Amino acid sequence: MPSTQKNRIFSAMQPTGSLHIGNYLGALKNWVDLQNSGGYNCIFGIVDYHAMTIDYDPRDMPKHITDLAIDYLSAGLDPDKSTIMVQSHVPEHTELAWIFNCITPMPELERMTQYKDKSRSNKTNPNVGLFSYPVLMAADILLYKADTVPVGEDQTQHVEFSRIIARKFNNRFAKIFPEPRTLLTKSARLSSLADPAKKMSKSLGEKHYIALTDTPAEIKKKISSAVTDTGPSKRVELSSTSEDPERGAKRRVEGKMSRGTKNLFDMLEVVSPLGTHKELMDEYKKGTLKYSDLKSTLADAIINHLKPIQEKRKELEHDHDKIAQILIQGAEHCQKIADKTMEEVRNKVGIR
Ligand code: TYM
Repeated sequence: MPSTQKNRIFSAMQPTGSLHIGNYLGALKNWVDLQNSGGYNCIFGIVDYHAMTIDYDPRDMPKHITDLAIDYLSAGLDPDKSTIMVQSHVPEHTELAWIFNCITPMPELERMTQYKDKSRSNKTNPNVGLFSYPVLMAADILLYKADTVPVGEDQTQHVEFSRIIARKFNNRFAKIFPEPRTLLTKSARLSSLADPAKKMSKSLGEKHYIALTDTPAEIKKKISSAVTDTGPSKRVELSSTSEDPERGAKRRVEGKMSRGTKNLFDMLEVVSPLGTHKELMDEYKKGTLKYSDLKSTLADAIINHLKPIQEKRKELEHDHDKIAQILIQGAEHCQKIADKTMEEVRNKVGIR
């Protein structure tokens, strides 16, 4: 088990079905790198209480939890180096969330952009859990006194909120919580393939994302139909040959790269061998890049990158006992830390 002297990382994902490459490149890959750096004491959660804030089928939940644990392990999380846990296995997450609810000003939650987006698209079930979602997230982080939270860009407002809550608690009761900081990767916000103005997300539909479990044929198909330039910039794509390099270069140096193209380059930078990204970026700047080359290079790089992860997944898929054992160990480790924090918290808020 990890030592307790190092800075503590807590991060988590919702068990809502298969992960997409945005979850992986925006967060999970970074978790593996941070774990392997040896510089942190890491806890990674499977946040099932959070997954109850949107419509879900209770029969799917156990499978989604196991699947997410398999995704974590296949991507390279190692239970000998990191703790992997299920949020509901340590009920103190919700106890602390309640105490935080009582020091959270309503306007702080009303301004959360993810709540506004989700409640707009979830009109049939705009529940209180969805509203106070960031409070539970603050409890997840602070229960373990984590100071570092590696997430994608869409979660930065929530991490900032947990800083506010830590500060409020420390000022009101006693200084016991650190103020956690966000850690972002280069691909902290991958866009949808089919509509690059939007964040890559499963809820948009199949053609918008690459699932970690997609086959090579599916990956090729999705990348080849990814939107690069739209509207007037489409002309850049067609005329971006050596006939007009000056104009092409000028437009691009001015930062006119479309979101769709940037999205493909962002992925390429992380999954391709050293040098490939630079080579294609140089061509882009000269105006000689063919988007079909960019797409086929990227598709191959993603396929190669995901291959060992998919192979590991196949090995683990049927080993449910091993997964259950890892999650029990994770719960035991986390329970000890949670007990300690909650004893302090209960004492300071006057309920023990
Ligand atoms: P969730 O399950 O929505 O997403 C998991 C992680 O994936 C990142 N992510 C992305 N990164 C880049 N590009 C994208 N298109 C993209 N889509 C998703 C998310 O930023 C996230 O890091 N609230 C959290 C779960 C949570 C949590 C926590 C995280 C609960 N408690 C405590 C950190 C600490 C969430 O819903 O993530």
